[in-house]
Amino acid sequence: MDNKGVRNLFIYGSLFFFVIFLYLTYDTMGKLDKRAPEITENVNQGKMVWHKYDCIGCHTILGNGSYFAPDMTKVVENKPKAYLKQFIMDPKSVNPNASMPKLGISSEEADNLITFLEWISKVDTNGWPPKPILAVAGTGQKEQAAGQRLFLSMGCQGCHMVNSIGGTSGPDLTHIGSKKDRAFVFSFLKDPQAVKKGSAMPPVKASDADIEALTDYLVTLK
Ligand code: HEC
Ligand code: HEC
Repeated sequence: MDNKGVRNLFIYGSLFFFVIFLYLTYDTMGKLDKRAPEITENVNQGKMVWHKYDCIGCHTILGNGSYFAPDMTKVVENKPKAYLKQFIMDPKSVNPNASMPKLGISSEEADNLITFLEWISKVDTNGWPPKPILAVAGTGQKEQAAGQRLFLSMGCQGCHMVNSIGGTSGPDLTHIGSKKDRAFVFSFLKDPQAVKKGSAMPPVKASDADIEALTDYLVTLK
């Protein structure tokens, strides 16, 4: 290629990519507003509380923070709000083994935090973080009892660990079968509050037959 050819390649090549760059910038700017819902006063307040107690010193959010504790980006989608509130205000009242300290957060601060976390969960992050690997852990196994399949598909693992896989905010169920009997497990799943007043476990919304199957599975964990 002669000098002129090289020069033309440079000029037209640059121009070509500059036009693409302009178009992509325009496209992104047009979509930016729609990627996050409106920021209300309570969302702002919640963000202040998030900073006040340095939650990011242990948790990650939108990719930032520490890896000591679970990611908070989509936590509101996966756990009931009443549960989150109780946990945030007094982790050990939910699980005596919780390692999150009681930070002295007021009820109003907790509500604002949850509003903030709810706002964060609605930010369009292009599918990040990926659905927790936890949700599918164990699903590759062949012979699964019906109860085990329900346990995995109903999100129990989001709060409970079985054989070292699962969340840590609820108690570890690896040996539940040697600690509790059938009758306890069945009635607890159906209505945790009735069995244990003040329990943070959300009632299992399923048919009696499914709760039976879950119970059958849990009592085998010894
Ligand atoms: C000293 C570290 C630490 C700090 C600070 C901390 N957390 Fe935690 N948090 C944890 C750990 C560890 C867990 C996992 C459960 C457990 O073992 O306690 C957790 C669990 C949680 C959960 C339950 C998550 C789930 O998936 O069930 C929520 C919600 C939560 N933290 C919110 C907060 C908020 C909001 C703040 C700031 C006000 C905060 N945390 C500050 C360590 C911390
Ligand atoms: C949002 C978190 C959360 C989810 C989801 C959840 N649990 Fe729990 N679960 C808890 C907490 C917290 C406790 C401890 C309650 C207490 O002692 O007050 C608990 C307690 C239990 C217990 C009693 C454990 C014991 O030692 O007494 C069983 C059994 C149980 N859960 C089974 C399940 C099953 C099955 C599912 C799914 C259908 C499930 N859980 C979903 C939080 C959760």
